[in-house]
Amino acid sequence: MHLSMIVVTDIFGGFAISEYDKIEWGSKEDKAHFRELTSKIGTVIMGRKTYESIGFPLKDRLNIVLTSKNYKNSENLIFLNESPIQVIRFLEKNKINEAAVIGGKSVFKQFFPYIDKIYITIEPITLENAEKLSFPYQQFKLISTNILNEKGTILLEYSKLQ
Ligand SMILES: NC(=O)c1ccc[n+]([C@@H]2O[C@H](COP(=O)([O-])OP(=O)(O)OC[C@H]3O[C@@H](n4cnc5c(N)ncnc54)[C@H](OP(=O)(O)O)[C@@H]3O)[C@@H](O)[C@H]2O)c1
Repeated sequence: MHLSMIVVTDIFGGFAISEYDKIEWGSKEDKAHFRELTSKIGTVIMGRKTYESIGFPLKDRLNIVLTSKNYKNSENLIFLNESPIQVIRFLEKNKINEAAVIGGKSVFKQFFPYIDKIYITIEPITLENAEKLSFPYQQFKLISTNILNEKGTILLEYSKLQ
């Protein structure tokens, strides 16, 4: 199973300004990158709060939403109350060998040991009182850097060291 983590932050690692942040501070170039990459990967895994912040299942992708609540599954939307290992087993049983972990903080933390790729977009802004993310990035090596627009939005791609 290949699991990628996809995240966007401000220049100080701030990644959300409220419990249900719609990430309106993110650039359109990052949104295009997110749409393209997650569509290529095909399956996204997220927490219930992130799902509610987005407000709908991402189209053309299988959406796995973690929650302890009872919601009704639909065509491309599956609610699971499982640990990361159980989620991975569920996907493998369904012949899915690649997925993108798209947040929020609690889901990033649980899945971090199983992540082999990280895509971080850094927006050249500072968010007031933002929730921050920190991870042992030294377990990863930088593969590529891309400047996404003239404002200076940067996309960093990391791979886990063997
Ligand atoms: N900047 C970024 O790239 C980025 C990306 C994603 C999200 N965000 C932001 O992050 C914020 C949300 O993050 P968050 O950490 O507060 O919430 P979250 O991770 O999106 O959702 C937390 C909820 O997910 C459910 N959950 C998590 N792990 C579970 C498991 N193993 N089994 C069952 N349920 C599980 C629980 O839902 P129940 O309470 O229903 O049981 C929990 O309350 C939002 O503001 C969002 O916009 C930012």
